[in-house]
Amino acid sequence: MRRIGILTGGGDCPGLNAVIRATVKAATALHNWTVIGILDGFEGLLAPGLTRELTAEDVRGILPRGGTILGTTNRGNPFAYALRRGDRVEPVDRSAEVVENSARLGLDALVVIGGDGTLRIARDLHRLGLPVVGVPKTIDNDLATTDVTFGFDTALQTATEAIDKLHTTAESHHRVMLVEVMGRNAGWIALEAGLAGGADVVLIPEIPFRVEAVAERIAQRTARGRAFSIVVVAEGAAPHGEKQVFQQSTDAVALARLGGIAHVVGYELQQRTPHETRVTVLGHLQRGGSPSPFDRILGTRFGAMAVELVARGGFGRMVALHTPRIEDVSLDEAVDQPNRVPPSGELVCCAEAVGISFGA
Ligand code: F6P
Repeated sequence: MRRIGILTGGGDCPGLNAVIRATVKAATALHNWTVIGILDGFEGLLAPGLTRELTAEDVRGILPRGGTILGTTNRGNPFAYALRRGDRVEPVDRSAEVVENSARLGLDALVVIGGDGTLRIARDLHRLGLPVVGVPKTIDNDLATTDVTFGFDTALQTATEAIDKLHTTAESHHRVMLVEVMGRNAGWIALEAGLAGGADVVLIPEIPFRVEAVAERIAQRTARGRAFSIVVVAEGAAPHGEKQVFQQSTDAVALARLGGIAHVVGYELQQRTPHETRVTVLGHLQRGGSPSPFDRILGTRFGAMAVELVARGGFGRMVALHTPRIEDVSLDEAVDQPNRVPPSGELVCCAEAVGISFGA
């Protein structure tokens, strides 16, 4: 009988509970294994008291719930653990402790559910000898070796609903409405929500833009009697030759946080067009809420496949959707290249064909 650990790391997203539920159900019912839930990402393997056994009863009713019942953090990287010494924060390598504590807990395998940062940690822990299986999650959809990550579909739905709502008020007030969406350095949420919501302009990190070109498109619409416009701005988008915009923060430990580019563009458009402009930043709304049916099903398939991988001894590997199958890829390959929008790809061409400007 095996004992497997499971943790969620990095930013949360809808569908994490579906993976946890499927993993626990498959591991206990199919194999009679014990599942140990590790709380708050890798923190749970660095501090005492942050683990608990998960039975089928513990995962009852969690399928439609957003977030993660295990808790998560994007701070506890064991290879560069931020230790506060007085006023200073120093990175300390605590990876050996993770390996030791996993052995102390008697874990035969560790299922790590995370995005590129967490999966990179999982890959490095596997190199240290930890039997790890990865499961890809993120609303950003920026992992290349799976067709899509769970969480993306729900975030896309949230962003599309927001654009639909902004459309009606933009039209009533003859305004230019900008909506900033997440995605880090990948423009998938912006591009697909822009397509689904019938946006006029979509600005993504993969295609540097010029504000003049955006203003020009708005002027063309005005000339055709369309006195309002919808501009979707990915948080990682940047004008030609300029840097991305980050939020101000006093947090020395957290990663630099993108955000604010829509306000910059909105201000510029206000100067260049006769329209009033308004900015909506969707932020963490995109990470919350009940997962869509697609994300629930994908999360469930990933969880079941993670258990199968453990049973096969497929350590150092990650489950992946290769439609129509769920397969596995090496963690090395999984974190090697990000999945970014190809600037000349079919989706961008399709968007251009229906009149969406990228401000290029
Ligand atoms: O990676 C998911 C994500 O939501 C990004 O889209 C966003 O840039 C980032 O996480 C926000 O992180 P935090 O929750 O730490 O503000």
